Amino acid sequence: MLYLRSSSMATLTAMFSRKFSSLTRRSLRVCVVGSGPAGFYTAEKMLKAYDEAEVDIIDRLPTPFGLVRSGVAPDHPETKIVINQFSRVAHNERCSFFGNVTLGSSIFLSELRQIYHVVVLAYGAESDRVLGIPGEELSGVHSAREFVWWYNGHPDLSQLAPDLKNTDTAIVLGQGNVALDVARILLRSPAELAVTDIASHALSALRESSIRKVYLVGRRGPVQAACTAKELREILAIKGLYVNIKEADLLITSADEEEMKNNRIRRRVFDLLSKASSSSHPHPSSGQKELHFTFFRKPEKFLESNDRNGHVAGLHFEKTTLKEVEGSGKQIAAGTGQYEDLECGLVLKSIGYKSLPIDGLPFDHSKGVVPNIRGRVLSCDAAQPEDGLYVCGWLKRGPTGIIATNLYDADETVASISEDIKRKEPTSEFAITKPGREGLLQLLESRMVQVVTFRDWEKIDSEEKRLGSLIGKPREKVTDWRNLLEIAAK
Ligand SMILES: Cc1cc2nc3c(=O)[nH]c(=O)nc-3n(C[C@H](O)[C@H](O)[C@H](O)COP(=O)(O)OP(=O)(O)OC[C@H]3O[C@@H](n4cnc5c(N)ncnc54)[C@H](O)[C@@H]3O)c2cc1C
Ligand SMILES: NC(=O)c1ccc[n+]([C@@H]2O[C@H](COP(=O)([O-])OP(=O)(O)OC[C@H]3O[C@@H](n4cnc5c(N)ncnc54)[C@H](OP(=O)(O)O)[C@@H]3O)[C@@H](O)[C@H]2O)c1
Repeated sequence: MLYLRSSSMATLTAMFSRKFSSLTRRSLRVCVVGSGPAGFYTAEKMLKAYDEAEVDIIDRLPTPFGLVRSGVAPDHPETKIVINQFSRVAHNERCSFFGNVTLGSSIFLSELRQIYHVVVLAYGAESDRVLGIPGEELSGVHSAREFVWWYNGHPDLSQLAPDLKNTDTAIVLGQGNVALDVARILLRSPAELAVTDIASHALSALRESSIRKVYLVGRRGPVQAACTAKELREILAIKGLYVNIKEADLLITSADEEEMKNNRIRRRVFDLLSKASSSSHPHPSSGQKELHFTFFRKPEKFLESNDRNGHVAGLHFEKTTLKEVEGSGKQIAAGTGQYEDLECGLVLKSIGYKSLPIDGLPFDHSKGVVPNIRGRVLSCDAAQPEDGLYVCGWLKRGPTGIIATNLYDADETVASISEDIKRKEPTSEFAITKPGREGLLQLLESRMVQVVTFRDWEKIDSEEKRLGSLIGKPREKVTDWRNLLEIAAK
């Protein structure tokens, strides 16, 4: 976190005090932590539901929009159009964005709860599930989150520099949509990526990449692959790509049939994989990039290279078969006692994200979420809801679902907030004046935090678009913390 001279902070506070001193003292002061889809949808719904609501969105980054900026793949520009809707919310005169403000270091939960009537936590899932097997710490092993943040120019990981030069083979563990994203970025032609908003350090590395072969490895079968059909179709359609799916893996059981009967997405994915298997050539031609779908393999151990000390050289897998969990209709991977090694020089673990706990917040460590009922945060003993504290998005339900899922999630959380406000109206809990925005800015000023407003973000946005236009890209992301804050402060 970087700080601003206190004179600039004083100016900022004075500006805000002037602007908002006219607000009714009965304003409902709301703070949303996190400016991803869950945060923005919540803010939008609160502003719509309450004319007297004043909503502040804080984010630890100087840039808004969460995974829409730092997760969604650069070759999916249409998905990012939702940013226009979020920007309209930020421009609402009763809404403010304060970037470079980290819950847990710039400001603490207990403080936010004192300053605001309602606090909604929507800070996502910024860590990774781990396998907990030997060799996970070897160099050349990264989580997909790290790799994605790197190619999307997240300022925390612009220095990651994954080694794409000293190997021709990458293994991606997991078969969800994030796994498909990272595999596609490794396999797509850099010329196609050059016209996207991919970070320039990633584009340069991909231009020089030696990776020709990607294994997408699942611990279960093709019926259980976690990706969706549109995303699968897209990777299968990469020009000139050799796709390998073993026919033996496509033999299905009655339990698989049952799974597909109950889930149309699974059926479509399976059909696409079957079609790709039958239409592929027996061998790749020379120089052709290769994508191998490998099923029924559970990672047991990362193998260390003999030549490069501390670097990964492959994975030791146990072959699996499916076992039905009685009565659930779910099939899980069971080891067979047979093993196989696969060589590689890069591993991307795409086995799911994980939320992080913060001080003073009840947290379910096994599920990696904040315990809640319909968005109401439950106290540590799960006995009752915490007053005025809510949760939304990946932090609420775990790291699954697309952008639009957070819209329905925000609906539910805001409905709970509304019920609570209604219930409390006679005792006028919300009539107690709370300092809200002014209190927040005063605290941040006293800590010399450089607050990045939405207008400041728009300076970054303009600069990125200008830099992009010079080289035929929609934007060239600024990926360095100091540069981001300098542009914001201009
Ligand atoms: C790699 C990837 C690609 C995806 N691609 C697509 C896609 O193409 N289409 C689609 O529909 N969905 C996609 N998704 C899913 C979609 O991005 C998520 O459903 C959605 O972003 C979750 O929203 P959220 O607001 O809960 O979390 P996030 O989007 O992660 O937002 C959380 C925000 O909280 C901030 N934050 C974190 N910690 C703190 C803190 N301590 N203090 C203050 N702020 C904090 C973060 O900076 C971030 O801005 C993708 C997901 C991933 C991981
Ligand atoms: N274009 C898009 O719309 C888009 C793009 C990216 C992400 N998203 C969404 O974002 C969400 C997160 O995606 P995700 O890919 O991170 O998660 P995901 O869909 O949950 O996939 C996780 C994958 O990891 C595997 N896995 C988990 N634990 C494992 C272990 N211990 N060992 C081996 N494999 C393991 C899972 O296999 P099992 O099934 O066997 O557990 C699954 O294949 C999803 O809802 C996704 O749809 C959407």
